[in-house]
Amino acid sequence: MRKTKELIRVLSLKDAVGIGLGAIIGAGIFVVTGVAAGVSGPSFIIGLLAAGIIAAFNALSSAQLAASYPHSGGTYGYGYRLLNPALGFSAGWMFLISKLSAAGVVAIGFGSYFHQLVPQISPLLLSVIAVIFLTVANYFGIKKVGKLNLTIVCITLLSLVYLVFSGIPYVKTENFIPFAPFGISGIAEASALLFFAYTGYARIATLAEEVRSPEKTIPKAIIITIVTAITLYAAVSVVAIGVIGTERMADSKSPLEVVAGALSGPAVKTVVTIGASTAMLGVLLSQILGVSRMMLAMGRRNDLPPIFQTIHHKYRVPHLGIIITGIIILLLTITGSFEFIVRAASFTILLYYSITNIAALKQPVKEQIYSKVIPVMGLAGCLAMSVSLPFNVIVTGVGLLIIGFLLRLLLQKTKR
Ligand code: ALA
Repeated sequence: MRKTKELIRVLSLKDAVGIGLGAIIGAGIFVVTGVAAGVSGPSFIIGLLAAGIIAAFNALSSAQLAASYPHSGGTYGYGYRLLNPALGFSAGWMFLISKLSAAGVVAIGFGSYFHQLVPQISPLLLSVIAVIFLTVANYFGIKKVGKLNLTIVCITLLSLVYLVFSGIPYVKTENFIPFAPFGISGIAEASALLFFAYTGYARIATLAEEVRSPEKTIPKAIIITIVTAITLYAAVSVVAIGVIGTERMADSKSPLEVVAGALSGPAVKTVVTIGASTAMLGVLLSQILGVSRMMLAMGRRNDLPPIFQTIHHKYRVPHLGIIITGIIILLLTITGSFEFIVRAASFTILLYYSITNIAALKQPVKEQIYSKVIPVMGLAGCLAMSVSLPFNVIVTGVGLLIIGFLLRLLLQKTKR
């Protein structure tokens, strides 16, 4: 094993869109839509579109940055280059811990959905098998894992499209009345909740070093990804409201399965359960991809031990980072004890994208593909949503950041 090989640029536009959609479509559409329906009634659809527009501003800022700086690590690298090391490190560290702990929860989610299809195997064993399988798949090269991801994402998309078409004949207009029982404040709360459902559009920026012609491919991929997600989410939500109404959506932890259960099309419920399982699998896969590339970037700048920058001479992936990522996720899946970190996700998301937007504003004029209005609106959206952050989420987020800075200090001291 030699130490410093390069990653390889093999991901096409199709692969890149697949990685974006794999990272995005997950618990947001399958679970959070129910919570949002509860706080806003049928008008949560407006909140969904508003969240999509804010996500699109943020996504375009990421696209513009990735086109100029197509390296592993995304906002971690932009923060370092365009702002200062502390902001760069903050983005990288919060990404790592929030994606690692979320991956444990997503793996558990996969186990419980897939268990409905294979009740003979326990949910935990299914989760463990998924983590091991995806870690091994990641080890054998980005090209292969890109194809696996496309397959997973296609199944998820087809299942949701099948749900939409099966549901259209059952839509009742009276389920949309009253449209906004909790007024503007309900819609605003729903949009803050649903912003989570779109996150993941920047995953492809985190993998930018492996994308072919990144300056063209990444902006295109990010735009296609976010437009597809907004359209799909809107279609699924309209059908879900129309078929069962927002009260029943709010009463369930898996509202789309309730929708499927109300339809008489062939095997709709099974298809939606398969889709929910593959959605979790896709998010998990993209988390292993993203975390290992972030570790690579942070290892290169000595923000993590140098072992993380090792690249496999044959498979051209950060294989040690992948193995360590897999082991951590496995431990989190088995112990399932770090949900409090996942609850700090909204702090991480808003911090991460605020840094992205500020970095996009600092880009030299010749690098700016879009008007400055885009990062300004993205930043304004993040700040507006941060108003709704609960105090304990802020405290947890800041606490995790402080731990990161202390560990970084320790690492730097031991190096001297
Ligand atoms: N957008 C991702 C999800 O919905 C985070 O799970």
